[in-house]
Amino acid sequence: MDCFEVTGGARLQGRVRVTGAKNSALKLMAAALLAPGRSTIHEVPDILDVTIMSEVLRRLGCGVAYERTPGSGGGGRLTIDVPDKPSTETDYDLVRRMRASISVLGPLVARCGSARVALPGGDAIGSRGLDMHISGLERLGATIISEHGFLIATAPRLTGTSIWLDFPSVGATENLVMAAVLAQGTTVVDNAAREPEIVDLCRMLVAMGARIEGAGTSTITVEGVDSMSPVEYTTVPDRIVAGTWAIGAVMTRGDVVIERGVAEHLTVALDKLTDSGATVEALPDGIRVAMDGRPRCVDVVTLPFPGFPTDLQPMAVALAAVSTGTALITENVFEGRFMFVNELVRLGADVRIDGHHAVVRGRERFSSAPVLATDIRAGAGLVLAGLCSDGVTEVQEVHHVDRGYPDFVDQLRGLGADVRRTQRPD
Ligand code: UD1
Repeated sequence: MDCFEVTGGARLQGRVRVTGAKNSALKLMAAALLAPGRSTIHEVPDILDVTIMSEVLRRLGCGVAYERTPGSGGGGRLTIDVPDKPSTETDYDLVRRMRASISVLGPLVARCGSARVALPGGDAIGSRGLDMHISGLERLGATIISEHGFLIATAPRLTGTSIWLDFPSVGATENLVMAAVLAQGTTVVDNAAREPEIVDLCRMLVAMGARIEGAGTSTITVEGVDSMSPVEYTTVPDRIVAGTWAIGAVMTRGDVVIERGVAEHLTVALDKLTDSGATVEALPDGIRVAMDGRPRCVDVVTLPFPGFPTDLQPMAVALAAVSTGTALITENVFEGRFMFVNELVRLGADVRIDGHHAVVRGRERFSSAPVLATDIRAGAGLVLAGLCSDGVTEVQEVHHVDRGYPDFVDQLRGLGADVRRTQRPD
């Protein structure tokens, strides 16, 4: 079982390069299924989730090859050879390991007329339903049944329609747009998610021959086409990794240039850091975040983009816990996302949870202790907390962190942190 040993005290200082976004790359990989032939995706992060999605694609009959790009901050080039007739089944062993495997559902049913994808089940950050994926595909004309733990979708040819999402779900928007690109006629998705990863996916789909308008707004219009072509495409930089470095710089009172960080993808988060007392500069190809002295507590409310990202909420709680004053952190996207707070409390944080609110009273430093990473972002938040602790914090179960942060330890060390990967017996 791999752990990180994080020795507190260092300021994060220097430059760090951010490669492509996990939450985009996984969907771009699924989108490649829409066209037979070889697609190439650049700036794909070298993380466990990409390995799992590569396995999903291999089992569907694709050839997948990955090559690291030196000096890219943990990114690389992925080639996907999609057969003329992919197979259409994705097993539970893969979906269970990574829920984003469900994003092959839309492309498969659109291109092959059927798909059999295991149901993902629960998740450590909430129940995460699929109702909007299912009802949207049904409106497009698919018949969907749930049987023996699988979702089975069939549709000889999908037909364009109008779909209103109850909530701007990222995954449902992506699945429905990927299905609609090969449907007959026009599909309008209203109350669509507006995340930069949606814009990225739509850009790749357009480069493959799709006709899409409104990506990045709440109304996405897709005019179906008969076929798509393979593509060469570069993944958008990871705003959550960039945001993690930004918050880490503030927590450790450091000075970090985040190369390829896109300030417009993090407007609310960076404004919060400015309010906490940090210097934030948008550079031509990145963001600089510097902090002198102890940060001030700021309230945070997570919301769909362009709101404060739920994926940075654990880092926001960790930041507030070492700031002056009291912060109210409100989680609106995932009901179970405060679970990791118990771990932060083990480090001496003063946090009280009431429903989807956390009241955080700042303390000068954390007090080191062994803690468990409960999901990707909670793990990253605990590592940042460890950097502000008075000794050596052992973060356990870091396989979660490996799912989302390429070269995390090396990058932290490059910024001057004292962090090591170690192993404990199971
Ligand atoms: C994606 C991201 C995740 C991020 C989240 C919100 C990936 C791989 N993951 O997750 O990191 O935190 O967006 O920005 O891209 N919901 C339903 N029914 C549905 C779909 C969603 O009830 O059919 C609910 C979920 O339970 C959750 C909320 O809607 O409470 C948001 O989920 P969604 O935006 O779909 O997140 P994901 O796409 O799963």
